[in-house]
Amino acid sequence: AQADAQADAHDVGYDRHSLIVDGKRVLLWSGEFHYFRLPSPELWRDVLEKMKAAGFNGVSLYFNWGYHSPAPGSYDFTGVRDVDRLLRLTEELGLYVVARPGPYINAETTGGGLPAWLKTVPGRARSSDPEYTRAYREWLANIDPIIARHQVTRGGSVIAYNAENEYAANTDAAYMEDIQRQARAHGIDVPITHNQCCDASWTPTWASGQGAVQIPGVDDYPQSFECREPAVWGTWGEGVTERLSPGAPVYAAEYQAGAIDLFRAGYDKCAELTGPRFMKVYYKSNLITSGATMFGYYMAFGGTNWGRLGQPNDVYTSYDYGAPITENRRLTAKYDEFKRQGLFVTSVAPLTRTEPATAPASGNPSVHTEARANPDTGTQFVLVRHADRTTDRDESADLTWDTPDGTYRLPVHLKGRDAKILVAGYDMGGQRLAATTSELLTHTTTGGRDIAVLYGTEGVAGTTVLRYGTRPDVKVLSGSVKASFAGGDLRLDYAHEGLARVEISGVGRRPLLLLLGTEKEAAGFWRSGDTLVRGTYLVRSARVSGGTVAVRADLDRPTEFEIFTSARRATLNGRSIRTRTNRSGALVARAKGPRPVRLPALKHWRGAEGAPEARPGFDDSSWTAADRTTTASPIKPKKPPVLYADEYGFHHGHVWYRGHFTATGDESSVKLNAITGKGGVYQVWLNGRYLGSAAGGEQKDADAPVNENPGPGTFDVPPGLLAEGEGAVLSVLVENMGHNDDWTADDVRHKQPRGLVGAEVTDNPVTWRIQGTRAPDRLRGPLNTGGLHGERNGWHLPGAPTGEWTATSPTRPVAPGVHWYTTQVRLALPRAQDVPVTLRFDRGEGRYRALVFVNGWNLGEYVNGGIQRDFTLPGGILDPRGRNTLTIAVITEERSKPGGIALSAAGNVLRPGPH
Ligand code: GAL
Repeated sequence: AQADAQADAHDVGYDRHSLIVDGKRVLLWSGEFHYFRLPSPELWRDVLEKMKAAGFNGVSLYFNWGYHSPAPGSYDFTGVRDVDRLLRLTEELGLYVVARPGPYINAETTGGGLPAWLKTVPGRARSSDPEYTRAYREWLANIDPIIARHQVTRGGSVIAYNAENEYAANTDAAYMEDIQRQARAHGIDVPITHNQCCDASWTPTWASGQGAVQIPGVDDYPQSFECREPAVWGTWGEGVTERLSPGAPVYAAEYQAGAIDLFRAGYDKCAELTGPRFMKVYYKSNLITSGATMFGYYMAFGGTNWGRLGQPNDVYTSYDYGAPITENRRLTAKYDEFKRQGLFVTSVAPLTRTEPATAPASGNPSVHTEARANPDTGTQFVLVRHADRTTDRDESADLTWDTPDGTYRLPVHLKGRDAKILVAGYDMGGQRLAATTSELLTHTTTGGRDIAVLYGTEGVAGTTVLRYGTRPDVKVLSGSVKASFAGGDLRLDYAHEGLARVEISGVGRRPLLLLLGTEKEAAGFWRSGDTLVRGTYLVRSARVSGGTVAVRADLDRPTEFEIFTSARRATLNGRSIRTRTNRSGALVARAKGPRPVRLPALKHWRGAEGAPEARPGFDDSSWTAADRTTTASPIKPKKPPVLYADEYGFHHGHVWYRGHFTATGDESSVKLNAITGKGGVYQVWLNGRYLGSAAGGEQKDADAPVNENPGPGTFDVPPGLLAEGEGAVLSVLVENMGHNDDWTADDVRHKQPRGLVGAEVTDNPVTWRIQGTRAPDRLRGPLNTGGLHGERNGWHLPGAPTGEWTATSPTRPVAPGVHWYTTQVRLALPRAQDVPVTLRFDRGEGRYRALVFVNGWNLGEYVNGGIQRDFTLPGGILDPRGRNTLTIAVITEERSKPGGIALSAAGNVLRPGPH
């Protein structure tokens, strides 16, 4: 193994143009993926294969400190946390990795990835404070060696290491420098990068000076996160990635590929805001204007804030992000556009080294042209877009184009919001592409010929000029294409309609099959190695060996598909298939689609009441006394004791408080104050009587001063409830919606407490006890389980003692409190089919919310009246061919009648068996 690793070891370098591996330039086209948002390692392969099939050659990976560390000194890299497995997978699939271990990552994850236990560590996080230094060095000492052994330089996939995250406010250069010193000491020898927030006006950019990285990059979200207005363009700028360092490639470290749903418009709207037209105009403009050769598209797949993973200000359970691959792992129109661009940028090598060049004159001031050229090959890349990037007008222009092969006058058309990158002077396999007004999807050489796929807007005219010494044989196999030959130029004129096919041969060169299609046709092609496939929902791989091409493909319906290959035989998902060869020289085969599936109705519910803590006689003697008088939190209580949940080790989900006091009989109200994070509530009982609920405090604005009165609630004491001299007990249930991030590195936001922050029962002295999560869950991790009675007693787990529960229905009206429901679901989905299953909540009546547990895993929180009603239940956690335990904890703030709950299929494809 040692020797193999040596043989696989590669050299990674860079210059001002690009990354360079073993002397060969690489254009890094990567997408962001959060393994921690897909707690099902089997599905990591699915997502990464889908990314690879879209033309991504890299994946950008945050590593989430808090996700791995439940307590100081304790780190877990097993099961769903097995990042070594993830990195092995990237290696196997041939995807480069930009490893981003923070220590701070932001990412709308609780605490921005800082572990919750850090809230009780004094000293400012993200600085060189000694206490924080001890903490983050511990993380780096754990994560860096895992990353290091998977570096390209050791035969692995990691091509770059990103230090910190958008570290632009309250910076400390010594800290930035130390992260890198640690990394180097832990064996990191690939280039170190940084993702600078926003633009070069934010300083430092970490391009020079103490703490500087080798390849400084820029994050850019030009569409903003205003998903309610998907038609508004460029709210946050032009989206052109700046060069930060004269000696390093231009790096679009995070470039917008979706959005957080800040204003609760729904992720479909976020996908629209960042849809194919935005992608065309912004991504292509950025490529040509900036000359960037390193990209990280945020997100390629968003995933789920399962458990208590979400940071409450910005997100809810779903982190779909409007990304090209949905939370249910479905491919979208954005995926198609990624494929069109991804195959292009990774097929055309001269793009890896370009300089600004003279652009063809457009002859129409409304049509803007801009060009780059490769100084070695002369190949030109011309951006054609509207001068006003926000317009959706149709425009035409005649390009006067000086190419390496001569001057051409070629018409171009922009229909609606659009941008194209046109290529000239390119040695395309064995051919010479002089110029084209179609866009190049990809080209390959297989079976003794060249094949190129070109495309354009449906109905719009295109021209392609190829150079030949003598007139070649031109055979139009399908579609309508006009060919003419003069002065060495073979000129093809056509309209982009369907898929035209042209065979060009007989000139002593390899023949060329030219496929000219619409955008839609282009998106129908898959590329794996030298092989092209068209007609299936997805192609994961196509490997040729011994005259057979083995295609691993997903099918969403019965279909006929084509394989452009040198092989004469084919297998589909491991089975031989009958093929014939068509006029285009492709193998044609038929494949069946998936069988329809039906999911069972949810029946036979059993239920139990889940708030015994509210009862006066409840025994809380084993609970922790909440009696601390000091706190490391920058927010101090007005009066001791410190009731903050984190101080007592209860970091996630619900906590219960019980406050004991001796009544005077004169109490008229109870005044409480709690911080839950956005969207949280707390509920109060006195001597078993429900007093009501209140909204917990939240940090609304990053820059707001610390709120003196964050989540106030005044609860009237009913007359006669308390009697002079008698013991009384106040029970308070507080939800923790997750911890704030630390985006501005001020330490105040992420250390904001959770739980009660103030309590007054007239002037009575109160002794408090607190209880949150009880048993650590090694399998599911610290974020899975909170402190509800049912959670503490394992009611959410399979095999819970629900025998004594009573038959009921979760749609029965219920009183304020906590109500548990459970049922068994037997699934028998076909083994060869991928059916993403979701749980749908119908709207009910009343203020209530529901935690969803599948086989013990907390897969989200439904809030009645909120935006999210469908919850993804990922396969791996949900057993598609077995018995599943579905358990719901319904938390009601008032008398409520919850709506129905049902399983539904979010897709259905036939897919290859396990690898
Ligand atoms: C960036 C940050 C990411 C993520 C993104 C918005 O500023 O680096 O971690 O938070 O914004 O989704």
